[in-house]
Amino acid sequence: MKSTPLNYPKMKKILTCIISLLLLNHVTAQQATPISASMNKVKLDFILDAGGRPEYKVDYAEKPLINTSRMGIKLANDISLDSNFMVINTERKSVDEQWKPVWGEVSTIRNHYEQVTIHLKQKNNLGRLMDIVFRVFEDGVGFRYEFPIQPNLKYFIVSDEITEFALTGDHKTFWIPGDYDTNEYPYSTTKISEIDNRSMVNASDDIAVKVCPDRYAVQTPLMMKTADGLYINIHEAALVNYSAMQLHVDTKTFKLKASLVPDAIGNMAYMRAACHTPWRTIIVSNKAGEILTSKIILNLNEPSKIENTSWIKPMKFVGVWWEMQTGKSTWNYSNNADIVGADGLLIPNHTHGANTANVERYIDFAAKNGIKGVLVEGWNYGWEEWFGNWKENVFSFVTPYPDFDVAAIAQYAKDKGVVMIMHNETSGSATDYERQMDTAFRFMNKYGYTSVKTGYVGKIIPRGEHHDGAWMVNHYVRAAQKAAEYHIMIDEHEPVRPTGLQRTYPNWMACEAGRGNEYNAFGHGDKPEHETIMPFTRFIGGPMDFTPGILKVKDYTVLPNKQVHTTLVKQLALYVVLYSPIQMAADLPENYEKYADAFQFIKDVGVDWDDTKIIQAEPGEYITTARKEKGTENWFVGAVTNQDSRDEIAPLDFLNKGQKYIATIYADGLDADWDKNPESYKITTYLVDANTKLKLKLAPGGGAAISIKPVSGDTKGIEKYK
Ligand code: NOJ
Ligand code: CA
Repeated sequence: MKSTPLNYPKMKKILTCIISLLLLNHVTAQQATPISASMNKVKLDFILDAGGRPEYKVDYAEKPLINTSRMGIKLANDISLDSNFMVINTERKSVDEQWKPVWGEVSTIRNHYEQVTIHLKQKNNLGRLMDIVFRVFEDGVGFRYEFPIQPNLKYFIVSDEITEFALTGDHKTFWIPGDYDTNEYPYSTTKISEIDNRSMVNASDDIAVKVCPDRYAVQTPLMMKTADGLYINIHEAALVNYSAMQLHVDTKTFKLKASLVPDAIGNMAYMRAACHTPWRTIIVSNKAGEILTSKIILNLNEPSKIENTSWIKPMKFVGVWWEMQTGKSTWNYSNNADIVGADGLLIPNHTHGANTANVERYIDFAAKNGIKGVLVEGWNYGWEEWFGNWKENVFSFVTPYPDFDVAAIAQYAKDKGVVMIMHNETSGSATDYERQMDTAFRFMNKYGYTSVKTGYVGKIIPRGEHHDGAWMVNHYVRAAQKAAEYHIMIDEHEPVRPTGLQRTYPNWMACEAGRGNEYNAFGHGDKPEHETIMPFTRFIGGPMDFTPGILKVKDYTVLPNKQVHTTLVKQLALYVVLYSPIQMAADLPENYEKYADAFQFIKDVGVDWDDTKIIQAEPGEYITTARKEKGTENWFVGAVTNQDSRDEIAPLDFLNKGQKYIATIYADGLDADWDKNPESYKITTYLVDANTKLKLKLAPGGGAAISIKPVSGDTKGIEKYK
């Protein structure tokens, strides 16, 4: 009898099938056992429940931090990717690397995590694949959904995200309403069970566009503190091609659920496999200061896509700006867009701020005080009817008003070593800006503008889209990319809040996306606690153009009863406490001349840093931050408090041992008070070293600002600090 030769390929196939089945059974049977990853105190568990629903939980120091929480995505008119899954494979990797940001709070960043990727397959005839990637850091967890190339899922529309964060208790929470169009609300501090944004939304008549349909929705970054003294921050990283994640709060069960901002027809994102969602992030620590120094968000973003970054330069700037905010001059050149004079030009109102002589005054001031940039708003046609009409074509970004001599100003600035900062307010008409962008950036190149401040005050066009929806999310990225093509740095006002994309596009210096100092001009102002909350919330995603430095904190506006809700000294401290590689010295030149000795701190303070130390911090109460200026041995310290006065000890143990320094201390006057006596301050100079412990006295709503420089010359007459 002839023996049949062994059919190896066929046998191999059968064997593989048997092994796979065994393996599958094995993993399916194992699904009650969590798939875990951990680093130090942080432990992540993933499980599929009996219905094949993906779930995760997080422990910190062996105690639950996030209870079992559901995961998954719902698709428009299709089977949801949130149940009926089996695990087909898991992959792991450990990463411990370092990288250097182009600019930042520290010069080197460590990226250290354990990654576990869970490959899921749906148990139906479509057999769709979804991967969940977890990265476990020593200060938290990031995870995202990935969709590999596969036969039965190519183009799909996200209609909802199931992701939950099941909190373990009724935590203290620092929140703003989950509005689709703005992040410019004041913060509320309540328990989770007390969250209801209705009264805040209704009271906020100082915000131009508000759309907040869910009274139980809050924005991220959401900052919380547990009864056991743990600090938790929930946000997202690398938000591209997806809408912003807000959190719907179940005030009874303390469960937070992802709530995505819809587009004009109610969809959340349009995807094409292979693709992925943004990262969802949970930062945790038992020290509040470690939330501020966490690098999870930056580490979850892609490295810079800009190869040559030599043209990207952090800087301070002044601007023709506060005078308009406070009603002393106007953005608009004319009071009537319908009337022209015999010369065919608009009739001037003679209150227009962006006139050549006034701009040159700011350039002179900047040059004299070593401030690099000058921003000018209201320089171009369109401000007569600039927002509120949902009009598509509002501004020309290349046509100056008749009294703004763009060429002469460019030359004047160049001669004085000052750079001009362009202003492109779009009033929400993103379509029009997209059409004009190339022309606008060429115009900036022609006249030597190295950066632009953009703005989106008003309802968005395309009509029906929202500031925080996926269409606009991509628009802000396109603007940053386009700016980079022309070597322009960008600062976006009224965009979605940042998610660390400044790592990928380091010309994206800052954005606003929060309630800045400007609300002290036209709005109800910022409460004294505001700046002790902002670093824990808005700043977690990236730098903000907060516009600090208002030294004339009372009687600065034509509107009655307005005042900045800080002392003068606290405004100085903000240059250190609120991180941004671009910082405006926002007050008028004449006010800086009046307070020339205090203004010296703003002149001296750095904008780019080798190192950052949080000396002490408690959200809503106080923050004291020390930063070492990049490439120098100079340190700057900023301390801020809420409405309460505070005695603080600030040890200077971060200084080089054995080195003597001169510290200039800008302190609240003994009688200072943000409300009654905000402009009282005292400046003293002492010799200090690494053993010095500064005793700081912060007034109600006050602060302290200190510049510390190594001794270089004669120190005669300067006392040692005791
Ligand atoms: C709002 C911005 O936040 C502000 O800085 C700017 O002056 C106005 N829009 C006008 O563009
Ligand atoms: Ca704004």
